[in-house]
Amino acid sequence: MAETSGILIKGGKVVNEDCSVIGDVYIENGKIIEVGRNLQIPAGVRIIDATDKLVIPGGIDTHTHMELAFMGTKAVDDFHIGTKVKKEMQTLTEEKGVNSFKMFMAYKDVFMLQDSELYAAFSQCKDIGAIAQVHAENGDLIAEGAKKMLSMGITGPEGHELCRPEEVEAEATQRAITIAHAVNCPLYVVHVMSKSAAKVVSNARRDGRVVFGEPIAAGLGTDGTHYWNEEWAHAASFVMGPPLRPDPSTPGYLMDLLANDDLSVTGTDNCTFSLCQKALGKDDFTKIPNGVNGVEDRMSVIWEKGVHSGKMDENRFVAVTSSNAAKIFNFYPQKGRIAKNSDADVVIWDPKMTRKISAKTHHQAVDYNIFEGMECHGVPVITISRGKVVYENGQLKVSPGIGRFIHRKPFAEFVYKRIRQREQVGKPTAVTRKPYKGKVISI
Ligand code: URP
Ligand code: ZN
Ligand code: ZN
Ligand code: ZN
Repeated sequence: MAETSGILIKGGKVVNEDCSVIGDVYIENGKIIEVGRNLQIPAGVRIIDATDKLVIPGGIDTHTHMELAFMGTKAVDDFHIGTKVKKEMQTLTEEKGVNSFKMFMAYKDVFMLQDSELYAAFSQCKDIGAIAQVHAENGDLIAEGAKKMLSMGITGPEGHELCRPEEVEAEATQRAITIAHAVNCPLYVVHVMSKSAAKVVSNARRDGRVVFGEPIAAGLGTDGTHYWNEEWAHAASFVMGPPLRPDPSTPGYLMDLLANDDLSVTGTDNCTFSLCQKALGKDDFTKIPNGVNGVEDRMSVIWEKGVHSGKMDENRFVAVTSSNAAKIFNFYPQKGRIAKNSDADVVIWDPKMTRKISAKTHHQAVDYNIFEGMECHGVPVITISRGKVVYENGQLKVSPGIGRFIHRKPFAEFVYKRIRQREQVGKPTAVTRKPYKGKVISI
């Protein structure tokens, strides 16, 4: 059928983060024009029957590294953006629409910041209304742990996890939260990978801190037992930092916390290196480029392990895959909601259909898939991006360059309302006293 600019999605269950209703969605010129029953639509528009399907907001992956130059090589899936430095942060926020900055506590001698530098960066984020993101691992302890493993003759991928156990992640997570709290800055902890770190985030939220935790598809869908696989290439393909954890109950635990709002939002940290790139570390795990896939499979993995398993409902699924990200990064409801005037980023989702994940059929450039063989309920049937069908019948219909950068304003209300109020009412004040008139020793 020839495509017109108008699309009517008919009879699906329209799912937002707060409710689900059976209805139609009419799209024109990249926007959602109307949501309702029996809509009056112009002649000649394309009609998509969504009976028995869900109509959900397009997923928002909070964390990817396309084309990242890293550890002597470059990620094979394309597109990346990143920066640092205090004055530039202000320019980026005020003029370029960037309202979040990622700081590293790991990668000693490369990216790692000291506590005083984190303090300065978090202070600046608070002043300019950005959200501070942190890769929370103790880089000094990792460097010492890696030396120890290598000296013991442990050179394979298992050494990657052994040199940076859970407490290395949990300690840094707690430290980042403490520093952020000292300057009243909202904090977003990227790739929460362990039960210990997740507990730290959860406890901080219960203590009233403005902190958000981001588990990723890898950590929710698989675990770190693969590092002990006897085939080096298999084990190496799972290497990322913080590592997947060998405790096999970790993915389920992270999903429980995600379902209950202890953790807030999901990304992938997609940062893919093909096996020949991973092989830079064939004799020394510290040289294996860190990163795994996820961007293509995130929604299916979360549906399978979260919704199909009964841990969360379809509305929470929308919250953690889309709406919460749009709120935190301040482009809601332009994105993250199926509603009049929102961008027409829509997925028609079949909750009953299944698919098997495989590198043989995925659309990514990387030559393996850490979810290989996973059978997932929940399949995107049609994906619409800014009003255009970009995926249908298993075929991608996109050309490079159609993506658009979204300018994001600072001081997202979802994040900053509480921060501002605390700033006003919580200022410490000096006690008014009469001057001390007694003796003072001479030194
Ligand atoms: O191993 C990872 N996570 N690679 C990507 C870079 C980062 O630390 O996020
Ligand atoms: Zn990171
Ligand atoms: Zn394995
Ligand atoms: Zn990352």
